[in-house]
Amino acid sequence: MKENYMVCNCKQVSYNDIADALESRRYQQLEDVLKLFQEIQDVTHCSTGCGGCHDKVLEIISEIMMG
Ligand code: FES
Repeated sequence: MKENYMVCNCKQVSYNDIADALESRRYQQLEDVLKLFQEIQDVTHCSTGCGGCHDKVLEIISEIMMG
């Protein structure tokens, strides 16, 4: 298991928070990464502050969804 770290400092959302939020969405296709991003944002509120973590969050979603 990957070491946990803070992804979004504004909203205090960690890698594990994003991984947990993705857990129930694994059936979705990777092409839906932007839709997933929105759902993860709704759940965790990541990337709703300065927006600086946007690319990092997208990267993590892709990474997790690709297994
Ligand atoms: S670090 Fe995520 S919104 Fe600022």
